[in-house]
Amino acid sequence: MPVTVVFGMQWGDEGKGRTVDLLAAEADYVVRYSGGANAGHTVVVGDQKYALRLVPSGILYPGKWCFMGGGTAIDPVSLVSEMDDLIARGIDFSHYRVSGSAHVVMPYHKLLEQLDEERLGSRRIGTTARAQGPLYSDRSARWGVRMWDLIDRERLAERVESALQVKNPLFQYAYGHEPLQTEDVVKEVWPAAERLRPYVAQVELTLAQAAKEGKRILMEGAQGAFLDLGYGTYPYVTSSHPVPGGACLGTGIGPRQIDKVIGVAKAYTSRVGAGPFPAEQDNEIGAHIRERGHEYGTVTGRPRRCGWLDLAMVRTAALLNAADVLGIARLDILDDLDPILVCTAYRCDGQEVRYVPSDTRVFARCQPVYQELPGWRTSTQEARHFAELPSAARAYLEVIARETGIPIAVVGVGERREQAIVQPGALA
Ligand code: GDP
Ligand code: IMO
Ligand code: MG
Repeated sequence: MPVTVVFGMQWGDEGKGRTVDLLAAEADYVVRYSGGANAGHTVVVGDQKYALRLVPSGILYPGKWCFMGGGTAIDPVSLVSEMDDLIARGIDFSHYRVSGSAHVVMPYHKLLEQLDEERLGSRRIGTTARAQGPLYSDRSARWGVRMWDLIDRERLAERVESALQVKNPLFQYAYGHEPLQTEDVVKEVWPAAERLRPYVAQVELTLAQAAKEGKRILMEGAQGAFLDLGYGTYPYVTSSHPVPGGACLGTGIGPRQIDKVIGVAKAYTSRVGAGPFPAEQDNEIGAHIRERGHEYGTVTGRPRRCGWLDLAMVRTAALLNAADVLGIARLDILDDLDPILVCTAYRCDGQEVRYVPSDTRVFARCQPVYQELPGWRTSTQEARHFAELPSAARAYLEVIARETGIPIAVVGVGERREQAIVQPGALA
């Protein structure tokens, strides 16, 4: 720390929430900087499993400040229901705040996304249906509704009316859908808006001050580097900036205040939604990983596409985002596989390619070049130190560190808090 960013290096679900949970004990603030309820961060504490969407993972430690930054997308109805579930389980929200600059998911954003995915048909993105595209479009177009606009009913109605002047013709003439009424939209959101009012604040000022004072701030990335709007596998991406650079824009913190960048990858690759995936195993290997790893979306329940670890992706994410160290999650899911393949590069149009091409059509033509490694065929779930891992598992991790050029600081060997190997001093 003092300011550490944890981000995903693949297509999401790398185990970021869990990694943040491992580090949050040391933090004063835990902050989400991008995305919204499309995130599903699962953290297991004792016999309790929490699936967090609009609440940073630090909430599971009493007394930590937990912020949703100005770059996040807040669905008020979904947030209130998540808070109520957590409060019923004994979680305290007195230290939770949402930036007034964060944008609000409105019912018309959800409708628009649904109509648009229908329009795209077989070319659909396969979104989580959490309205990220329409929300961030409105933010850029300056038609958005911010958390500050929820403070007053009249003010909210004004913003909605103005947005509907543009949305309604789109609904009617582009999609053949009946127009929405301002009052209906406001009515749907208002009870949640009232509930959230005490939590809305100018959190960026608090954070900047805290960073200046050397307080420990943990930035919890959502999604992953290849879902980044700018540098992911466009158009099969989300509409925000999951990369560490997004932590500056999404919390207002200055770039020179970030001290450490931790990239999280799982020991294999998964993707939920459409788009190219060179190391995908649409066969019994992928099915084995999916079943053993319960690879079904936290948010949507969709089966995740699974494949071997793609080190060209991790290498690219590490280089582009200047990752300092790696967290490798879910090593234990590979315990039964032998041999284990890792994709170390691609063959594309007759050439060897070591980094993910930013032309998504070229990426779609990439064929994986695999290195075959022996499996270990024994449980890693009890290991708490590198030395306790089977030698084949250590060799696997060494290949990852060598191919990416980044040291490994954390290895997950199970979902529980204690099922992790944390390299001494590596996170300092
Ligand atoms: P996130 O979106 O990056 O936070 O990841 P998700 O929570 O969507 O998916 C990761 C899943 O793997 C969650 O169910 C975690 O509880 C679980 N998990 C995280 N690390 C490990 C690990 O090392 N081993 C196992 N078996 N499960 C893990
Ligand atoms: P966490 O934070 C995995 C994927 C969707 C789709 C694409 C666009 O849990 O890692 P969107 O709803 O964002 O417009 O969908 O991005 N996606 C995720 N996949 N984990 C996530 O979040 C994701 N958030 C979005 O499946 O392919
Ligand atoms: Mg997830």
